Amino acid sequence: MKFSILTLFPEIIEAYASASIIGRARKNQVIEVEAVNFRDFTADPHRKVDDSPFGGGSGMVLACQPIESAFESLLPLAEPARILITTPAGRRFDHAYALELAQCQQIVMLCGHYEGFDERIMQLIPHIEEVSIGDFVLTGGELPALCIMDSVTRLIPGAVQKFSSVEADSFYDGLLDYPHYTRPADYKGLKVPDVLLSGNHAEIAKWRKAKALEKTQALRPDLLNSNLSS
Ligand code: ADE
Repeated sequence: MKFSILTLFPEIIEAYASASIIGRARKNQVIEVEAVNFRDFTADPHRKVDDSPFGGGSGMVLACQPIESAFESLLPLAEPARILITTPAGRRFDHAYALELAQCQQIVMLCGHYEGFDERIMQLIPHIEEVSIGDFVLTGGELPALCIMDSVTRLIPGAVQKFSSVEADSFYDGLLDYPHYTRPADYKGLKVPDVLLSGNHAEIAKWRKAKALEKTQALRPDLLNSNLSS
C-alpha cells in the first residue's frame, strides 16, 4: 500500500511516518509513504501556492495549478486507488471507511490549508473524495491525513505484529474494546477482576464480550443499533 500525501508541510508527515508502528511498517515495506510538497509544483516565480478569494473575505485559498500539477506528478497511480481531499465538509471518516481504503494499492491525500482550496479542484481531479475526521475545524489537513493513514495501516496484515489485537480493538466487531489490566494484580487496593487471573480462557472470553457490550451500551449506544454490531 502506498500513501501519497500532498501538503505544504511534508516535514509533519515525515516526522510521524518515521516513528513507532507506522515507521516500522514502512521499514518492513508493508506500506510506502511519500510526502509531496505543492510548492515544488507551482508555476509562480515567487513559489506562491495560494491567493486571496474572489468576492472578498479573509484568508487565502490554495490555487488550482499547484494542486493539479502536484497530483499529475503521481500518475499513473497503482490501482485500485482512492484520491481524498481533507476538509471539514467531507464524508465522515470512520472504521467502515478505513476498511474500504485498506483494500487499495494507493491512497492519495491532498491536505487543505488556509481557507481551503479552489473548488474547481473537484472537477480537475477525477473521482476525488472529500473526507472529514469530525465536526471541528483544524488549521490544516495534515493531522486528518495522518489519522487516516494510521488507522488504515493498522488494518493491513503485517503492520501490527499481532493482527488478533487489531481484531479485538474497538469498532472491529461493532463494539468498543473491553477493559485491559496488567501487573500488579492489586494496585493501592484496586484489584484486577478475578476471572482474568483464573486461567480459564472460555470464561475470560465471555467476561470480555460482556464488558465490551456493557461499555458500548453505556458510552456509545448508537453503535449497538448500527449494522456493524454483531
Ligand atoms: N481540515 C480542517 N479541519 C478538518 C477536519 N475536521 N477534517 C478534515 N480536514 C480538515
